[in-house]
Amino acid sequence: MAFLEVDGLSYIFPGAQPVEALRDISFDAKENEFISVIGPSGCGKSTLLRLISDLLPVSTGQVRIGGEPSRAARRKREIGFVFQEPALMPWRTAGKNVRLPLEVLGRRRGGTSTPLQLLDLVGLKDFADKRPDQLSGGMRQRVSIARALTYDPRLLLMDEPFGALDQITRDDMNSELLKVWEQKKSTVVFVTHSISEAIYLSDRVVVMTPRPGRITEIIGVPLPRPRDSEMKRESEFFEIETKVLRALDARSVHG
Ligand SMILES: Nc1ncnc2c1ncn2[C@@H]1O[C@H](COP(=O)(O)OP(=O)(O)OP(=O)(O)O)[C@@H](O)[C@H]1O
Ligand SMILES: [Mg+2]
Repeated sequence: MAFLEVDGLSYIFPGAQPVEALRDISFDAKENEFISVIGPSGCGKSTLLRLISDLLPVSTGQVRIGGEPSRAARRKREIGFVFQEPALMPWRTAGKNVRLPLEVLGRRRGGTSTPLQLLDLVGLKDFADKRPDQLSGGMRQRVSIARALTYDPRLLLMDEPFGALDQITRDDMNSELLKVWEQKKSTVVFVTHSISEAIYLSDRVVVMTPRPGRITEIIGVPLPRPRDSEMKRESEFFEIETKVLRALDARSVHG
């Protein structure tokens, strides 16, 4: 049974000149499935994540998480969110940034791991006392991933977390993320502009059209796990890349 169900989701930003961001989006994700969403800039990917997480109220269509509306899942802290920008407090150390969601509630830990254990999980145990300006871009994103894992979210939403990183760092971060995910399994919806990143990470890739974002195709990635970056040089990987490219091009046909 699907863990995440997105059914007939449409969204128009209201205003003097309304912006139709999403049109009739439907897909689902099984428990612990890794889904990527790929599409051109402005096609509504961030809007989709905000609707799924109840940061933006759903007006048309439906989102269910574990059979419940997303508001219930959010209240139970079942949703983790990693934003496009790391969104860290500049004056707080890495450790204190990860601790922030707990401090607000006066708790020592949220789920099974303490903030320090989460920093260790993302390879930053020795950097707990550094401020964000003393960390690299990749490290800052690791801090925000650690923070998003505070409550052992059953659903992890990631909005182009590695978009600002250089290719080499990005490849490293992809492998790191898969290791973290192997340990802390959750259903992931990962937004990206990168076809190879989407394929490398995912079980399925959701391909979207330009705004208003619709789904052209959902492409399965039958590569075995655990994955390693060598797979990116195999013909099976190229074949999937071609499928995704075709689906991205197909937008004009369906548009
Ligand atoms: N608060 C808002 N009010 C009005 N329009 C908005 C608002 N937020 C986003 N939009 C518009 O909705 C569309 C989708 O935006 P969204 O940020 O979801 O795109 P995106 O796919 O995440 O783009 P990118 O890849 O550049 O991050 C865009 O045309 C954007 O201009
Ligand atoms: Mg976006």
